[in-house]
Amino acid sequence: EDPEGANVPGTRNPAPAANLARTVVFAAFIAVLGIFPGLYIGGAAVPIVLQNMGPLLAGSILGARRGGAAVLLFVALVALGLPLLSGGRGGIAPFAGPSGGFVLGWIASAVVVGLIVQRAMPRPGLVTLLVANVAGVAVDYLVGIPYWGAFTGDIGSAAVQSLVFLPGDAVKLVAVSLVAVAVHRAVPTLSAPR
Ligand code: BTN
Repeated sequence: EDPEGANVPGTRNPAPAANLARTVVFAAFIAVLGIFPGLYIGGAAVPIVLQNMGPLLAGSILGARRGGAAVLLFVALVALGLPLLSGGRGGIAPFAGPSGGFVLGWIASAVVVGLIVQRAMPRPGLVTLLVANVAGVAVDYLVGIPYWGAFTGDIGSAAVQSLVFLPGDAVKLVAVSLVAVAVHRAVPTLSAPR
C-alpha cells in the first residue's frame, strides 16, 4: 500500500506526478511520430503513417488507462488545432474526413492493447505483446474502415484499400512489441496498477 503515492523504490506505486509525466511524454511521442510524412499510395485518401505506432506503444507500456489517456490528450490537442498529424494537419477537419476514424480508433487501440498487456504485468512476454498489438491494430481498422466507408459510400472499397496498410502495420507492431518487452524488463515499476 502506498496511500501517499510516494515513489518508494521496490514498490509498484509510482507517484501521481510521475504517472502524469509519463502520460504527457507519450502524448508528445505520438506527436513526434507525426514528423514522418504520410504516404498516400495510389492517391488513397488515408495515408500510411508511422504515427499509429504511438498509441500501440502507449498501451503496451502504460497500460489501458494511462495509455488511453495519452492518446486522448494527443487527439484533443489535434482537435484544438495543433498541427500534430502527419503533414502538419490539425483541427476539426481531419476528423471530418476519411482518415478521422483511424485517429479516433487510436484511443481504443491503446486501451485494448493496455487491457491485454496488463493481464501479464509486471513482465509481459513477447507473445502477449504481439497478441495485444495485433488486437490494437485490428480495433483501429474496425473503427477506421467503416468511418472511411461512410465518407466514400463504399465500405468494401475502404476495406480493400486498407490492405496496403497490412505489411507496414505488421512490421510496426512487431517493433513496438520488441521495444515494450525490453522496456518492461528494464522498468518493471511501469506496470503500477494506478
Ligand atoms: C491521419 O493522419 O489523418 C490519420 C492517418 C491514419 C492512418 C491509418 S492508421 C492505421 C493504418 N496504418 C497506416 O499506416 N495507415 C492507416
